[in-house]
Amino acid sequence: MDMFIVRGGERLFGSVTVSGAKNSALPLMAAALACEGETTLSSIPNLVDVTTQSRVLGSLGMDVQRDESGLLHLKTVDESACIADYDLVRRMRASVCVLGPLLAKRRMACVSLPGGCNIGDRPIDLHLKGLAALGAQIRVDRGYVIARADRLRGANIFLGGAFGSTVTGTCNVMIAATLAEGTTTIESAACEPEVVDVGNFLNACGARIEGLGTPFLKIEGVERLQAVEHEVIPDRIEAATLMIAAAMTGGDVQLNEVRPDHITAVMEKLREIGVTIQLEYPQQPERRQSVWVKVTQPLKSVDCIALPYPGIPTDVQAQLMSLLACVPGISIVTDKVFPDRFMHASELARMGAKIRRESASAILNGVSRLSGACVMASDLRASAALVLAGLAAEGETVIRRIYHLDRGYECLEEKLIALGANVQRVKDEPENMPESLKLTDGEERPTYSELLDALTGPHWNLNPSEKPTPSAEG
Ligand code: EPU
Repeated sequence: MDMFIVRGGERLFGSVTVSGAKNSALPLMAAALACEGETTLSSIPNLVDVTTQSRVLGSLGMDVQRDESGLLHLKTVDESACIADYDLVRRMRASVCVLGPLLAKRRMACVSLPGGCNIGDRPIDLHLKGLAALGAQIRVDRGYVIARADRLRGANIFLGGAFGSTVTGTCNVMIAATLAEGTTTIESAACEPEVVDVGNFLNACGARIEGLGTPFLKIEGVERLQAVEHEVIPDRIEAATLMIAAAMTGGDVQLNEVRPDHITAVMEKLREIGVTIQLEYPQQPERRQSVWVKVTQPLKSVDCIALPYPGIPTDVQAQLMSLLACVPGISIVTDKVFPDRFMHASELARMGAKIRRESASAILNGVSRLSGACVMASDLRASAALVLAGLAAEGETVIRRIYHLDRGYECLEEKLIALGANVQRVKDEPENMPESLKLTDGEERPTYSELLDALTGPHWNLNPSEKPTPSAEG
């Protein structure tokens, strides 16, 4: 396993290009299952999750190849395979996106339930509700969703849940509906740009979907989908993460290949915090372009709420929390999409952040500077948040379990290093622990004598009579 050593305090400066969107790439790859012929996808990021999705599709009879120029080619070679096994699906929840295309194209699907997740409950009841409304017979047996449908038929489907719409659920049902007989309407559809990207791809293949980007989709079923070439949209979460990195280091960064209209809420919030953001084409936010992010004034604390699109994405909540943890003043960060997605808060607290959890919110009392510590990444976005915290912290930060980060950010450390950050990837071995965080017994706790020094050192402002006299025993 690898870990990062981040030496904080470097101001990010320069230019960096945003990769293609992971959360578009994964359902797009699944959608290729529903097509005739060869699908070619460009700007597919090189990520562990993409490799996992390729393996899931390979186990379902697809030939998936990446060529030297980075294009991903997907073609069905065997239509008989319909089982997506737990061993693969448990690695990545997005593999559940094969359910809709399999049902639509092969009339049967057996897909493992993905299992637990560090960001909170992630049921798939809405996916199943939508597919059942299209006429699929579905049962859950020994951890697998087993579904059959002789013919899918258009239906009126409401896909809203307690926490709003579902992104992959909308993709699943939308893909299935494109090949259903008659008209389907989906109310409370997810409006996320990734859903629109999948819908645009399907329409280019011959589907008839109206209303993309709105909560109401109308889909006229067609007989077949003919595979096409498609370019994946830029990753709005990566763009937002890099913007926040620039803000946290007082940097001056040019981001290329950004769709500003996909991150309006994040840019608005950063501006409210005091970050300067300029667009290459301010009148055309829907165009891919460069965006400049810099800090020229002290930043202000704010409140922010993660909501379904077009709100601030839940996938940026952790990174915003890192930023606000070191902006003096009180900020409240709320997540209405995944109300338990706060695993990063306790790790940020290890770096000196003052955070109190209140149900779906975290109340932050911003400190002027975080301090380096040894922290543990719990999920993809939490890992990114800890890397950002390390960039802004004083001293060295070690981030363990960064395999989470490799699942969803293409070359994040290379990009940060190109901007001047001091980030090093090393094996997670005791001997690689930096001196500042190293322990005599090989663990990452401070030594007893360091703690004693911290207790008795000269920096306390106490009356001599109030000074603690710690015992010399270990
Ligand atoms: N929900 C239900 N029932 C369902 C499906 C979802 O109650 O059948 C609830 C969830 O528990 C959650 C909310 O609805 O509270 C939204 O979940 P959604 O289904 O939209 O999430 P998802 O499709 O599984 C995608 C992204 C996530 C991102 C969420 C929210 C992909 C591959 N994943 O997940 O991305 O957080 O939408 O925007 O598109 C990430 O990239 O780090 C990541 C977790």
